[in-house]
Amino acid sequence: MSALALVPAAGSGSRMASATPKQYLDLLGQPLIAHTLRALLGAARLAQVVVVISPEDEWWESYDWSDLLGDSFARLLVLRVGGDSRAQSVLNGLAALPQSDAWVLVHDAARPCITSLQVDAMIIQLEYDPVGGILAVPVADTLKVATNEQSIARTTPRAGLWQAQTPQMFRQQELLSALQAALPEHVADITDEASALERLGKSPKLIMGSPWNLKVTYPQDLILAGLLLKAESL
Ligand code: C5P
Repeated sequence: MSALALVPAAGSGSRMASATPKQYLDLLGQPLIAHTLRALLGAARLAQVVVVISPEDEWWESYDWSDLLGDSFARLLVLRVGGDSRAQSVLNGLAALPQSDAWVLVHDAARPCITSLQVDAMIIQLEYDPVGGILAVPVADTLKVATNEQSIARTTPRAGLWQAQTPQMFRQQELLSALQAALPEHVADITDEASALERLGKSPKLIMGSPWNLKVTYPQDLILAGLLLKAESL
């Protein structure tokens, strides 16, 4: 079975309030994305890792990636084809690869606490699945629907609700077609890969993830990610 990872890393990270995109912010002495790539390259069942960066990216070239990632750097492919949205970056990355029905695991550059073991376990669970699936965790908090005045309109039952994470694992050609069918018109609804497949009536599997697989979005997430990475390495 052959599988590759595709890592959208073309965001500007506007919510981080930093001029440097969040994938390049310092995390334990390295750019954040180096932790993400090391975990993916360490997964025995992934043959290749493809990173999608922005055509305007000024940061990638300033690092010594073979030093940061070691020999596994040879299995990394960097494509400067990022788009205006996460979904467009993924679509452009897939469209730049040779057509294939191999599995592709799309994983946010901004989730550095994923582990190689979690990636391999996900592939083992889904490799014979007809559709594919995503890592996710059941919602733990009580959910409120807000009015325009930011008061509570109602409480929505959380039973049966899951929070989507990445990796999201689908057949390469099927995901490309689903994204092409959805974009650009439905870009606001396509906040992950599964939502593109759902539009076509598919029902991807939910694979239990870990709350540690957080997405670095706000400055405080960077502190938490550093603590979690240190704890993972104990
Ligand atoms: O902004 P958000 O946290 O949703 O980004 C998730 C991932 O998608 C990040 O790794 C980011 O770099 C990537 N992204 C992208 N192209 C964009 C926007 C986000 O590759 N236009």
